[in-house]
Amino acid sequence: MEQYGYFDDAAREYVITRPDTPSPWINYLGCEAFFTLMSNTGGGYSFYKDARMLRITRYRYNNVPTDAGGQYFYINDGGSVWTPGWMPVRAKLDAYECRHGLGYTRIMGEKDGLQARQVSMVPFGSDALVTRLTLENKSALAKDVSVFSFVEFCLWNAQDDSTNFQRNFSTGEVEIVGSAIYHKTEYRERRNHYAVYAVNAPVQGFDTDRESFLGAYRGFDSPAAVFENLSRNSVASGWSPVGSHNLKFTLAPGESKSFIFVLGYCENPQDQKFTAQDVINKAPAEKLLAMFRTDAQFDRAFDDLAGYWDGLLSIYNVSSGDEKLDRMVNVWNQYQCMVTFNMSRSASYFESGIGRGMGFRDSSQDLLGFMHLIPSRARERLIDIAATQFKDGSAYHQYQPLTKRGNFEVGSGFNDDPLWLIFGVAAYVKETGDLSILSESVPFDNDESVAESMMEHLRRSYHYTIDHRGPHGLPLIGRADWNDCLNLNCFSATPGESFQTTANFESGVAESLFISGMFVGVSDDYARLCREFGWQEEADAVPGFKQDMEQAVLKHGWDGEWFLRAYDAYGHKVGSNECDEGKIYIEPQGFLVMAGVGVKEGYAQKALDSVRKHLLSEHGVAIHTPPYTRYHLELGEISSYPPGYKENGGIFCHNNPWIVLAEAVLGHGDRAFDIYRRTCPSYITDQKLHHTEPYVYSQMVAGPYAPRFGQAKNSWLTGTAAWTFFAASQGILGIEPDFDGLKIDPCLPAFMTDVALTRKFRGSTYRIRMQNKAGGEKGRVKVVVDGCAVEGGLIPADIAPAEHEVCVTIE
Ligand code: BGC
Repeated sequence: MEQYGYFDDAAREYVITRPDTPSPWINYLGCEAFFTLMSNTGGGYSFYKDARMLRITRYRYNNVPTDAGGQYFYINDGGSVWTPGWMPVRAKLDAYECRHGLGYTRIMGEKDGLQARQVSMVPFGSDALVTRLTLENKSALAKDVSVFSFVEFCLWNAQDDSTNFQRNFSTGEVEIVGSAIYHKTEYRERRNHYAVYAVNAPVQGFDTDRESFLGAYRGFDSPAAVFENLSRNSVASGWSPVGSHNLKFTLAPGESKSFIFVLGYCENPQDQKFTAQDVINKAPAEKLLAMFRTDAQFDRAFDDLAGYWDGLLSIYNVSSGDEKLDRMVNVWNQYQCMVTFNMSRSASYFESGIGRGMGFRDSSQDLLGFMHLIPSRARERLIDIAATQFKDGSAYHQYQPLTKRGNFEVGSGFNDDPLWLIFGVAAYVKETGDLSILSESVPFDNDESVAESMMEHLRRSYHYTIDHRGPHGLPLIGRADWNDCLNLNCFSATPGESFQTTANFESGVAESLFISGMFVGVSDDYARLCREFGWQEEADAVPGFKQDMEQAVLKHGWDGEWFLRAYDAYGHKVGSNECDEGKIYIEPQGFLVMAGVGVKEGYAQKALDSVRKHLLSEHGVAIHTPPYTRYHLELGEISSYPPGYKENGGIFCHNNPWIVLAEAVLGHGDRAFDIYRRTCPSYITDQKLHHTEPYVYSQMVAGPYAPRFGQAKNSWLTGTAAWTFFAASQGILGIEPDFDGLKIDPCLPAFMTDVALTRKFRGSTYRIRMQNKAGGEKGRVKVVVDGCAVEGGLIPADIAPAEHEVCVTIE
């Protein structure tokens, strides 16, 4: 089996050993406001806060060859031209390695005795991509080396940049001062920001006009300036501004030289935009560049970044005896959670950054994986999300990260949205104990005149479901529930129409068993939050609402061997043995069992047995089976995908952890772990088949009915990250933040007999040791803290921070 890389656990890096990976294997640099996506060949792009509205460099999706465009360093070594990341020149390298680390990427290429090493990072506290390029002469002869840097600027609004050429070809503007290139398109008018691309050494030449640099009809693989070893010193005027520096130097045998390149984003106050007519105020850029002039400064920033990640990853750390689980839980899964927190679903190699902003449901769920890392940012996010809710409790499905305003680009009326907010807020309060968020005044639809407390937002969320129930007393699905593509009220027959925005007639009949699982699952937490807020009456009413819903599910949602998925707009069953296709779906089995529905009736066990029997495959649990082989107007987009892909029978990784958690509810440690392992990237054996990065989760792996069964798509930005971290850290390893303290409730596989864990929680540190003799089932869990047994496994939260030794025995 062809392999493309391996984990270096000690360095917390993934090492890619050849550049021609099946798809670009990328990394996300940046953890605050400035972000860069960087592939293993140096491809990718940068943006500030919002990939659509403040895009700094261009990237062309659908391009051939794939992954063309990025931050490039062309080397002309005595007429031989190459790029250390292999792309775009694709000259044969003598050595190549890419190491993706936490917030940085190293690329090394070597040819004819010249080695180039680039280390790129977005330093903590700076709005810039900072790259150190080192050239080392490993040959026995002196070398005359010429390096050309290259980035292509985007004219800020990425959508406009790729569509509105009649205007854009005339707007591009730059300034050049010494080794700094300033991209200032539209600065003369409404913008107060510009980009700078600079190097910390005098340059022998530069280019800022793409055509001058590349030459007419030439691509990134053969820039004329590089092949002729001569910058044109071009000054962009309209067309496509770029940034290229030329550095020429001689390296004696064994000698090396380093340069630091900074690609930064800068803003000026409105009244200080210019220093003279049309001359931009460069003070913020100069300040930024002064931070990265020397190697010592670069090294310090690099150490700071490592320290930042050390701190974050010390909050939850496990040593389970299974290195594959440990490396995911301790490093890569948490790292991916940070990326989904920052990006939601907006910008990846599968998301252009133009279409989707922050999703209401997506971001609320992403918080579940992120809450322990930086709860204060999670708090802020929850407030932003809640501010896009409407007064009736429903919500915009997404909002723009820069403006934080909701938009209708993918419609509204997804009836699961409101409940996710309660999940998110409950998770926040459980992690932090901070009840003040409930009293926080939050507007509806960003209109301050109709602001109410966060708790009132939650009440409207909860009652939205109660007030929108169908003939069986089950929640109405609206446009869709978590499964975006089950569009039971949409009836779209017009080619090219979007299911998300097509007219959605509310049948008043289409009901969702999935939302009923959410409702039951969140009810206890909602009641607790009500009580904390002083709403005793509302809290007292919750058990009744919950019970009604459970009864409706048991009466109208059980199909005999598993839970139904939905009722469609005709009142027909979806996900029933009576259906020809799509007989059983994963979502209700996961969410209803997680909520405890049907446990004592034996339905839960049957449902999970059916999951194993019908949906389980080598690569994970399929979303439903058998997939739809023809288009069903009454089901919508789900049946528009060929069988086995995406929501039509793919292994939609996001919902696999729900089965892990459901198995844990029933106490099946071996079965929970077995499901966990099947989609977990570190257990992948065939990297070529899998296709996407083997260090992060992908949204989907093609299901058993697909011609390319086992092939993953849509890596990085998926709710899988948060849910698998939740499932592994809380469901399997059983470290559960709760309102009153830290609950220890593991459900381990038999082989995990001795587990050591560290968890920082509300200022205290818990060193936990678990001895498991239960043999793959949950067993009886005994928790002893500093020598004293605690009731129900709940360690009460400390008033003052302390260190605790926790002994857990499972028999
Ligand atoms: C969307 C999610 C949705 C999932 C399943 C993803 O692409 O971002 O909001 O729950 O698909 O349809």
